[in-house]
Amino acid sequence: MSSLQVSLGDRSYPIHIGRGLLDDETLFSPYVQAGKVVVVTNETVAPLFLAALSSTLQRLGVSILPVVVPDGERFKTWETLNTIFDSLLRAHCERKTPLIAMGGGVVGDMGGFAAACYQRGMPFIQIPTTLLSLVDSSVGGKTAINHPLGKNMIGAFYQPQVVLADIGLLDTLPDREFKAGLAEVIKYGLIRDYDFLLWLERNIDRLLARETEAVIYAVRRSCANKAEVVAADEREGGVRASLNLGHTFGHAIETGLGYGEWLHGEAVASGTMIAARLSMRLGWLSSEDVERIRVLFVKAGLPVMAPSLGAARYLELMRHDKKVEGGRLRLVLLRGIGQAVLSNQVQDCDIEAAIVDSCT
Ligand code: NAD
Ligand code: GLY
Repeated sequence: MSSLQVSLGDRSYPIHIGRGLLDDETLFSPYVQAGKVVVVTNETVAPLFLAALSSTLQRLGVSILPVVVPDGERFKTWETLNTIFDSLLRAHCERKTPLIAMGGGVVGDMGGFAAACYQRGMPFIQIPTTLLSLVDSSVGGKTAINHPLGKNMIGAFYQPQVVLADIGLLDTLPDREFKAGLAEVIKYGLIRDYDFLLWLERNIDRLLARETEAVIYAVRRSCANKAEVVAADEREGGVRASLNLGHTFGHAIETGLGYGEWLHGEAVASGTMIAARLSMRLGWLSSEDVERIRVLFVKAGLPVMAPSLGAARYLELMRHDKKVEGGRLRLVLLRGIGQAVLSNQVQDCDIEAAIVDSCT
């Protein structure tokens, strides 16, 4: 096992990365006392890992209150969140009762938001179970639910006390979900870590084969990148926005098609291709660079063309994004591979042209 720190003053926390962490009660003991912990999970993950977590916690004299929500992005809603609150209230959970979110990004975001809200905040632990949640969503404290008009629109910044990144949990993850997680891994290489991008170009086959050493390296390097960015800009006043490369377009795809139709990582990959083609149109990225990005996504088994919603519909959906400031779209673009830039000066006609170039 290795550990990283997210440095946020008195809200700093460790990310432990390795195999078999779910069975190691010493990793839980600093955060749970004898009594009860809430475990928010979903109906797919619960049968896989709830028993193991329960027996680990039993060794600490802790019993669990499982709160099992339906599986899927379309259930990342106010209604599901409310059922979590119903369970917490019925079980008389207190402000100090810890809440563990065990699942992918949907469970982590929604469980985290429940923890942030219930009695104005209860201790929160992340056990990510998808590649995407291991490398991105479990770190950094963004919690949210979707609204029919926009993704992740209702939420809070609320940091966990610890992230237990057990890559053994990925053994049951379907290939499509694993590949979706690679979109966020590749993102770190594109926005700020050129050496990592080079490593990814050389090792993508090892990752797809899920070689333990390669997966641990990619998870650790991704989490290190994320931890650095979050420590520098927790509330996204500046550099943290770069983590949203491809996301403004991607969120439009997810909302426009209906939540769950495309996986988040798939939408991010094709959204990143729109951002890359737009960067090329602005003279910031060469056609060779765009091709290099496209080839890496293709090798990772991710879509590089976006669904045809119509450019006007994309723009309409994107205007609901959290990156809109003073009515202007703020886009994450690339000034070369490994260097993200933010711009609110891009003309609609250029955005539309990049969308048209990128749609099937
Ligand atoms: P997800 O949570 O929907 O999980 C994907 C699927 O895999 C689900 O069906 C889930 O039940 C299943 N699953 C989870 N773990 C499994 C396992 N070990 N074995 C078998 N099946 C398993 O999707 P995701 O890609 O993990 O997360 C996407 C969500 O994360 C989106 O809602 C997105 O907005 C959010 N997100 C948040 C942040 C953040 O910073 N908070 C960052 C990126 C993405
Ligand atoms: N996934 C974007 C962020 O954490 O800021």
